[in-house]
Amino acid sequence: MSADSDIASASDGRPVDPAPAHTEMKLAVLSRYIGYVDERGRGGGFLHATRSAMYRRYIDGFAGVGRYDFGNGHVRDGSALIALRAEVPGAAGASPIRFTHLRFVELDDDRANTLEARTRAAGATEARARVVRGDANVVMVDALNEVEDRTPTLVLLDPYDLDDLRFETVRLIATWHDSARARRIEQLVGLQIGRIRRQANLEQGQMPSKVSLDQLERLLGNRRWEPVMQEWVAGRREWSEVFGAMRDSFEEELRRIGYVYTRHCDVDERDPMYSLVFASDHKDADTIMAGSIDHWRRDPKLRQRGLF
Ligand SMILES: C[S@@+](CC[C@H](N)C(=O)[O-])C[C@H]1O[C@@H](n2cnc3c(N)ncnc32)[C@H](O)[C@@H]1O
Repeated sequence: MSADSDIASASDGRPVDPAPAHTEMKLAVLSRYIGYVDERGRGGGFLHATRSAMYRRYIDGFAGVGRYDFGNGHVRDGSALIALRAEVPGAAGASPIRFTHLRFVELDDDRANTLEARTRAAGATEARARVVRGDANVVMVDALNEVEDRTPTLVLLDPYDLDDLRFETVRLIATWHDSARARRIEQLVGLQIGRIRRQANLEQGQMPSKVSLDQLERLLGNRRWEPVMQEWVAGRREWSEVFGAMRDSFEEELRRIGYVYTRHCDVDERDPMYSLVFASDHKDADTIMAGSIDHWRRDPKLRQRGLF
């Protein structure tokens, strides 16, 4: 898969999502992490690293409609279709390496129908790629029940809102068959934690509502960020420090439940609103993710767009 092969050449007439600022980073990092082919035709990423496995699985917990509109007619595959189409070369004469099983979880029926239609239009069989309708926090267990203990598996959790994802779901995935699996299931989690910013009233020195703070706790799995937030509301801390405290506490939680490696990429870096956080207990996976994030940060287009 070349770096840009996930750019759709034309719209298929079905609904697309408008792309917020962090979407480009999320899709670029995901796409590169899954697999890419360098200038000399060599494959990389998760697919190449797991080439000797019998199966490779991908679960998208908040799958969306499969396409994004970046404006000016630039329509691009979303996470589910990137994973579906991704492939890297196999050994000489062998078939390309790709995910053998993909499960796309989507709560909204219309959005699930759109993604289903796109998945079939891409030629995927039901056995290979399936849309699972329901709340990711509830139906994730069904998707996990299919995962063989030996199968390298990547889960993307990419919710819109603070209350869409619960840390309990992250924990379920992290600890899934952990006594039988050689490696934990890897997770890539999009944290929309910048949304809490609008809910504080800084002029009046008021914290976000109890409901919002409780939602944040359910997402991040802890409340250690709260004292920093209180200081920000009182005018003694910068927003970037609150954001960092929330994101770091989530990474700490991931390590507490067993992951050895975590890393993140924030958008944007100076005034962050969104963080993509990766967790794995495989050194090679962490190295590939570090390279994928670096590649995004070195993209010269970023400076033109002023994201960094
Ligand atoms: C940010 S979008 C996903 C975008 C997608 N990952 C991509 O990059 O193309 C979030 C999606 O999650 C869906 N959603 C919201 N809450 C959900 C839940 N509890 N379980 C499953 N899907 C949910 C929304 O309908 C929406 O389509």
